[in-house]
Amino acid sequence: MSELPSAPELPAETSRRRTFAIIAHPDAGKTTLTEKLLLYAGMIRTAGMVKNRKTGRMATSDWMAMEQERGISITASAMQFEYKGHIINVLDTPGHQDFSEDTYRTLTAADSAIMVLDASKGVETQTRKLFTACKLRGIPVLTFINKCDLPGRDPLELMTEVEEVLGIQASAMNWPVGMGREFAGIVDRASRDLLVFRKTAAGGAQRAEMMRIPLADARAAAQLGEVLAARMRNDLEMLEVAGNPFSHAAFLANQVTPVFFGSALTNFGIEPFYDAFIALAPAPGPRQATTLAGATIEIDPIRSPFSAYAFKIQANMDPRHRDSLAFVRIVSGRFERDLVVKHYHRGEFVREVRLSRPQTLVARDRTTLDLAYPGDVVGLVNSGFAIGDTIISQGGPAKDGFEHAPLPQFPPEVFARVRPLDLTKRKSFDRGMAQLASEGAVQVLRSWENPLGDPFIAAVGRLQFEVFQYRLRDEYGVETELSDLPYQCSGWLVGDVDAFKPTHGTLLAKDHRGKPVVLLPSEWDKRYCLSQNPGFQLVEIL
Ligand code: G4P
Repeated sequence: MSELPSAPELPAETSRRRTFAIIAHPDAGKTTLTEKLLLYAGMIRTAGMVKNRKTGRMATSDWMAMEQERGISITASAMQFEYKGHIINVLDTPGHQDFSEDTYRTLTAADSAIMVLDASKGVETQTRKLFTACKLRGIPVLTFINKCDLPGRDPLELMTEVEEVLGIQASAMNWPVGMGREFAGIVDRASRDLLVFRKTAAGGAQRAEMMRIPLADARAAAQLGEVLAARMRNDLEMLEVAGNPFSHAAFLANQVTPVFFGSALTNFGIEPFYDAFIALAPAPGPRQATTLAGATIEIDPIRSPFSAYAFKIQANMDPRHRDSLAFVRIVSGRFERDLVVKHYHRGEFVREVRLSRPQTLVARDRTTLDLAYPGDVVGLVNSGFAIGDTIISQGGPAKDGFEHAPLPQFPPEVFARVRPLDLTKRKSFDRGMAQLASEGAVQVLRSWENPLGDPFIAAVGRLQFEVFQYRLRDEYGVETELSDLPYQCSGWLVGDVDAFKPTHGTLLAKDHRGKPVVLLPSEWDKRYCLSQNPGFQLVEIL
């Protein structure tokens, strides 16, 4: 494979990048923390009104001015900014009602994740699902235990819950001194300093003042008062004896999660967490890819030619730009405007294409991008790319191409039968279905027995159905009718399909790649079905 003349700045640009996602259950504080990362990076002057919580839209004048000035939107799929010499790429993982396959797929573009827990709630359902997806991809996770300014659960109990529910060791990097009203600050375990924070007059809208006092200094105890100081000494002693040690290698291997305590709202603990994050989180590294002949190769961010893959496609995001945008994550090499790349779809060469309208950060006023590096996310307009497609710039023959690891499919949890209301629109309906399925908007399944019957659609979250119906109407002029199907879980069948005996209430279907998938009414039915079909497996992620 021929190599591009390497860009001299490529190693430094790559090593200063941190591309990550924040994973959290709704309300744990993901938006607030994101906002504080922007505040501490100097991107916004005051925080506190970033999101209009009712509409979910950004509503602050400060924010909007910044958006216009710098072309950044927190609603965008990726935000980029600089903090202490590092380039931070935050990937948005939609939660709440928007939880969907996009949420999972976005994680494949991240090199690390920050897991935000609410100190009064601990590990919640959506945190668990997202954490599992990170673990499967080998993405290292840092934990931020938020809302320590409110009465919360015992810190030790929270650490144990992380270990037991998520199956990863938790290692406390700092420790809260007092919780709730008493929350006075944190102890940095490595330096043995007490970090005391003071809210500014504007509350959490501006950075909190931080004072660093060595624990051995008498001022530390004086600052806390006798009771808190004694409790802190006790906790620290116990952690020394019973706590898990931290090792950077174990963190990168997803065996241990460093745990930080703080409060995103009041900014207590934000700066030390941020600094630890840039020190610990990995820069973009090598990734495995598959050659067209099926061999596994390693793509190095610096030595390999430019390559990227599409992890998300979004269409018609802005009525003023009626187009579709492919979000590609750069894996290797330097990206330049007008670069000519080879496009690969499911392991086959498609065409050569010039990337002439690249965009960074989708905002109302899109900005055109000239240069980007490994770890960066670029938006490509009307590119004709599908989710999972790879692009490569290299001089050699097309057959020398490769594919980045195919994006996993996640087991859908909602299912419906879909048909056009007006049967004369069948052709447009079929076209729309094929397009939306290739974008990954929904998964399209057909009965194994009767593949020509009405298709089913399946998704991780209900919102995907609404978007699907809306887009069929808006873009293809087809009104559809959905009827819910009584399945709540699914799994891809591993074993001889002809010998499989569906149990009562289960359905054998075919996914868009022709693979067998079993739909089941409940987890109980899944276990029963497997007990009746020994030797078979129902796998959750393909
Ligand atoms: P999300 O994106 O993860 O869904 O959470 P978000 O940041 O929107 O935070 C959810 C709620 O928790 C918000 O309150 C937010 O102000 C609050 N919150 C976030 N971090 C902290 C913290 O460290 N301490 C305290 N005390 N609260 C925190 P809300 O009532 O939904 O919004 P608002 O009406 O107060 O703006």
